[in-house]
Amino acid sequence: MADVQAYIDGELSRFRAELFEFLRIPSVSARGEHAPDVRAAATWVADRLRDAGLEASVMETPGHPVVLGEWREAGPEAPTLLIYGHYDVQPPEPLEEWHSPAFEPTVRDGNLFARGASDDKGQLFLHIKALEAQLRGAGRLPVNVVVLAEGEEEIGSPSLVPFVQAHKDRLACDAVVISDSSMFAQRLPSLLFSLRGLAYFEIHVQGPGGDLHSGTYGGAVVNPGNVLANIVASLKDPDGRISIPGFYDDVLEWDRGTRDALQALPFDVEGFKREVGAPGLNGEEGFSLLERIWIRPTCDVNGLLCGYVGEGAKTVLPARAMAKVSFRLVPNQRPERVKELLETHVSRVAPPEVKVRIRELHGGRPWKAELTGPFFEAARRALAEAFGQPPVLTGEGGSIPIVVDFQEILEAPVLLMGFAPPGANMHAPNEWIPLENFEKGIRAVSRFYAELGG
Ligand code: BES
Ligand code: MN
Ligand code: MN
Repeated sequence: MADVQAYIDGELSRFRAELFEFLRIPSVSARGEHAPDVRAAATWVADRLRDAGLEASVMETPGHPVVLGEWREAGPEAPTLLIYGHYDVQPPEPLEEWHSPAFEPTVRDGNLFARGASDDKGQLFLHIKALEAQLRGAGRLPVNVVVLAEGEEEIGSPSLVPFVQAHKDRLACDAVVISDSSMFAQRLPSLLFSLRGLAYFEIHVQGPGGDLHSGTYGGAVVNPGNVLANIVASLKDPDGRISIPGFYDDVLEWDRGTRDALQALPFDVEGFKREVGAPGLNGEEGFSLLERIWIRPTCDVNGLLCGYVGEGAKTVLPARAMAKVSFRLVPNQRPERVKELLETHVSRVAPPEVKVRIRELHGGRPWKAELTGPFFEAARRALAEAFGQPPVLTGEGGSIPIVVDFQEILEAPVLLMGFAPPGANMHAPNEWIPLENFEKGIRAVSRFYAELGG
């Protein structure tokens, strides 16, 4: 352990320089024109896995490649760990809101700003560096390790489920470890007890054959914008509950113990308000703020498109309207069921004079952790040692759809330990990670291996 920590001390500034290099690659999976950058990031990750002492390959999928790293010299009797992360990032827009360029990593006050700093390049890379520190510093690992890095997480992992199914034997493991989430507070490490799922749709409303003069035709022709507004308004009631019939049928009511534990977390409501910058906060009646984002489902408009939105007035009756709407789901909701319920509901709300079409963009099932077992206990001890205080158990409102598939296909428990700071600006301008979290993350993961070694 001493040799591993000494190796980290000696190499930390190089680790940082390498992370900067990784963050400079604009691996935006959603954009076709960035496909070569996504591939360059995959190749870069494979090279760093080899530097660390693993065997690595870039494997093709129908979409962006998967990088696989393997170190199996602990032998067939030793357990195997699967480390998962993603090397793709969200688009950086709006560019003008960044204080330094999205793909030019910049340090201010000990914090590193760049797209992917927290989600997820910084967190994936700290695992690779912990592996390097083990293998180069101590010469071995107490467990076999498989690293699986994908380039399509931010577009819903379309190629990964088939990949995991096809390579089930090669990916066989005793536990999956993921760092793609946040700490509850700075210097307070967290292990996740749940993730929300996702069901994401486009609702298209088509009215007249083309845009019309709203004076000549308005009043006699049904306006798709008005219809879409009604549909959107019918999704939630004023108490913050989703008003689609049957929506709550599968919603798990969490036990009193979990809810009391949430109540006891040192939650900084004022800090949260500052982070959000809204005039006020509200949500489902009868639930606390953390419950609303972690253990209750919700529905949000993510985008609206209709009519004239340029300068000044244009009296137009638009031919069509579109909304992007997503639902965050909790155990035991299923995205397919939500789709059926939404379709039935919308067909009741929309009048027959327009055509409504619902397109499913992507989905992911919610996840509830098993908080027992040797890997969980090792993680708890490692985080406590690295951060000087034991981790808290937290939920997470965001989604990592592949987690449930790992659990089912590989039949292994999944452990989520995040090193992003709260308010990391994931998906937003000025995404960041404290350099301290990058370093402590490497040390915590190294200690995790030490704990696994006994
Ligand atoms: N890393 C995030 C999920 C996340 C965010 C976990 C914050 C914990 C804290 C992940 O990359 C992500 O953005 N997931 C998407 C879903 C995906 C299907 C696009 C999400 O939650 O919107
Ligand atoms: Mn992520
Ligand atoms: Mn993300």
